[in-house]
Amino acid sequence: MSSKEDKDKSSKLWGGRFSEATDEFVQRFTASVDFDQRLYQYDIDGSIAHARMLCKVGVLSADEFSQIESGLESIREEITNGNFNWSVELEDVHMNIEYALTEKIGEVGKKLHTGRSRNDQIATDIRLYVRDEIDNILALLTKIQTALIDLAERESSTIFPGFTHLQTAQPVSFGHHMLAWYEMLDRDYARFVDCRKRANRSPLGAAALAGTSFPIDRDYTAELLGFDKPTNNSIDSVSDRDFAIELAAAASLLMTHLSRFSEELVLWASAQFNFVDLPDRFCTGSSIMPQKKNPDVPELIRGKTGRVTGHLVSLLNLMKSQPLAYNKDNQEDKEPLFDLIDTVKDCLFAYSEMLPAITCNKKAMLEATMKGFATATDLADYLVKKGLPFRDAHKIVGTAVAFAIEQRCDLSELTLTQLESYSDLIEPEVFDILTLEGSINARDHQGGTAPAQVRSAVAAARTALAKR
Ligand code: ARG
Repeated sequence: MSSKEDKDKSSKLWGGRFSEATDEFVQRFTASVDFDQRLYQYDIDGSIAHARMLCKVGVLSADEFSQIESGLESIREEITNGNFNWSVELEDVHMNIEYALTEKIGEVGKKLHTGRSRNDQIATDIRLYVRDEIDNILALLTKIQTALIDLAERESSTIFPGFTHLQTAQPVSFGHHMLAWYEMLDRDYARFVDCRKRANRSPLGAAALAGTSFPIDRDYTAELLGFDKPTNNSIDSVSDRDFAIELAAAASLLMTHLSRFSEELVLWASAQFNFVDLPDRFCTGSSIMPQKKNPDVPELIRGKTGRVTGHLVSLLNLMKSQPLAYNKDNQEDKEPLFDLIDTVKDCLFAYSEMLPAITCNKKAMLEATMKGFATATDLADYLVKKGLPFRDAHKIVGTAVAFAIEQRCDLSELTLTQLESYSDLIEPEVFDILTLEGSINARDHQGGTAPAQVRSAVAAARTALAKR
């Protein structure tokens, strides 16, 4: 090449109608290769499927296809081994690979792009990428859910202060609390599975937007790439990014859940709560305060939630004013999408490692539960079962609680005479229902906190996970 300009012009695969080289700024500004190169595996898979199909329908000869296929495979190897020279002048992953193919196998390489466009090519690449990453996310979710049911089983009889308004409300089984997290993640799992169904359609063959005049076989390429079937409408195929937005929405809600979980872990790991101990390898120290063990990992997960939700908002806004069909705006879908997926996977990985290593401080949990008059509702229920209307029972117990606060003791520490003074329905066996164990055991129905219920919920969850 004689000059930068010559190289620039000759290397542009679309350079034919241009009489001057691209402005250097524009070249940099419009290029996506710095970030879309990570799609190379999918791009090559898509190209091979496309070429195989062209061969099947008689557009390429068997020999041409085999040259294209082995050329692409050797490019795949070069990229994987870090021996590929990515060039901004070639704009994106697609043109870098196509250009390298022609350099490698000569004229035949120029036939690869017959009957397709970068528009259906990129739509195919990201759908393949999204599908793979959904599978990775699903596997991590299953790992965390398994850790949660293991923890729930281990701690099914551990008394824990159930909170509302962050005030002690009623005693619960710590295992039951863990199963609440299990349920949240179970809905997340279902959302990703659902999102995968719509992502797993092949846009290949839509070409630029209108389809192609070649006798393509879209079912065949769909099948080769493991898609459920081709998309229905060529215009929609190149413009649709709903699947990316759905993924971002599912990821944002998942992160919201992890953030709430993280908030609890941060609180529970504090000296004030002291409910759990996080593994040392998941905490960090302070550069100034020697005593500190900071729950950085859950804190960061809480913090990264905003980042993922931000990407969802970016993607929604990216799409909102686009006329049909493909617009260059769509190139902006990649960085948010990549970053949100990377972030979610890291956070899930952290949880999958951290949860099995969490230890519970049962004594602190028990003491905290004893502090908040957590069995007051049980006393009211006791009076109701003896014939008092609930509202009256509520009032009586409220008065007894006020007295106990004055005496600085728990309801169960009041004497029978003291308790009887609030209602003559109160008899000695009242102390059974004022115990924390009695309180959780009493909530013995499907979805309740009785340890027996927790264990059967664990068993049901195990069966469900085994079917995945
Ligand atoms: N880099 C582009 C993207 O990410 C690929 C498709 C480009 N198509 C086009 N007609 N300029 O969306």
